Amino acid sequence: MQKEELKDKFTEIYHENPKGYYFSPGRINLIGEHTDYNGGHVFPCAITLGIYGAVSARADQTFRLYSTSFAELGIIDVDLNDLHFVKEDSWTNYAKGMLHFLLAKGAQITHGLNIYIDGNIPDGAGLSSSAALEMLIGVILKDQFNLDFSAFDLVKMGVSTENDFIGVNSGIMDQFAVAMSKQNHAILLDTNTLDYSMVPLNLQDNVIVIMNTNKRRELADSKYNERRSECEQALHDLQKELNINSLGELDSRTLDQYSSLLSSETLLKRARHAVWENERTLYAEQALQKGDLAEFGRLINASHVSLENDYEVTGKELDTLVHTAWQQPGVLGARMTGAGFGGCAIALVNKKDVEAFKQSVGTVYEQVIGYAPSFYLAETADGAKVLK
Ligand code: GLA
Repeated sequence: MQKEELKDKFTEIYHENPKGYYFSPGRINLIGEHTDYNGGHVFPCAITLGIYGAVSARADQTFRLYSTSFAELGIIDVDLNDLHFVKEDSWTNYAKGMLHFLLAKGAQITHGLNIYIDGNIPDGAGLSSSAALEMLIGVILKDQFNLDFSAFDLVKMGVSTENDFIGVNSGIMDQFAVAMSKQNHAILLDTNTLDYSMVPLNLQDNVIVIMNTNKRRELADSKYNERRSECEQALHDLQKELNINSLGELDSRTLDQYSSLLSSETLLKRARHAVWENERTLYAEQALQKGDLAEFGRLINASHVSLENDYEVTGKELDTLVHTAWQQPGVLGARMTGAGFGGCAIALVNKKDVEAFKQSVGTVYEQVIGYAPSFYLAETADGAKVLK
């Protein structure tokens, strides 16, 4: 989207010119799923699908917020002195959360803003539209009020917004990827130490195709929090004999040796996913660094198998997309990405096969599920930023 277009749309809503322009990307996770709240590794990258913001200053204490994704709600007013979660305030609760945590950390936010938001990231599709929104608001506030907070400070406030304002116990991956990414790279992040490295994403003749099930996933309503507490229970069981603080500290061999401590088959399956997925992520990063994309693809496939059978977060829509993708010529690997329970999957596909791939997978999916999926080519992006 061009600045000119944003400016025109802003003016239609607020009848004045914007003073600043911003972009915040969505993300995909290449591998390392449901490991970030278990102290394991993740391997995400930001994508060019994302959200744009245009902003002007107000003299009063009101934030006026408008999003084209929720046009039917019109402009929603948020009072800087009354930042509480209100269900009817819908998407603007994410902005309230960021304002709340910035103020709590001493940010001098002295007046309101008019904010216009538009984007091309499908909402609720598991591409982190909510983290993109949080980091967009963070970057807007940092820029408009010259705040002395780092991108990582904003990441932590985004996580607090999810956990303590919205009520979703999500980990750090989404905000981290959305805020810190660099174009043409993926981030290998150790969620235990928060050490990270930028890994060049050299896919040779291949591209990443994002496949959207078009089945909405509501993170807050989903079984996400349940999975997290199952992992906590599994950790608790293992701590009876093992001196560990997270499942991410375990290797698969140790888990196997101590698996009799786990009090149910369900907990065994959840722990097995968390531990193996963490190892797979490290192997996948090495395979990518070596240029061994066949190996990288196999690990991506194995990740899906584990998410389907041990972690049980896929469902018919994601499995249909991924299993069908595996059958297609030119596909090195495919898996669900993000929290699961609907949302999106990714496939690593040879450039020359992409059109046929979309055709075949789309046809099968529609036959089995009854409606069409959507496809997007993933291009990597920088983290949330001011548009100069
Ligand atoms: C969601 C959460 C992340 C992460 C993934 C699963 O996207 O927001 O923190 O847990 O699910 O890997």
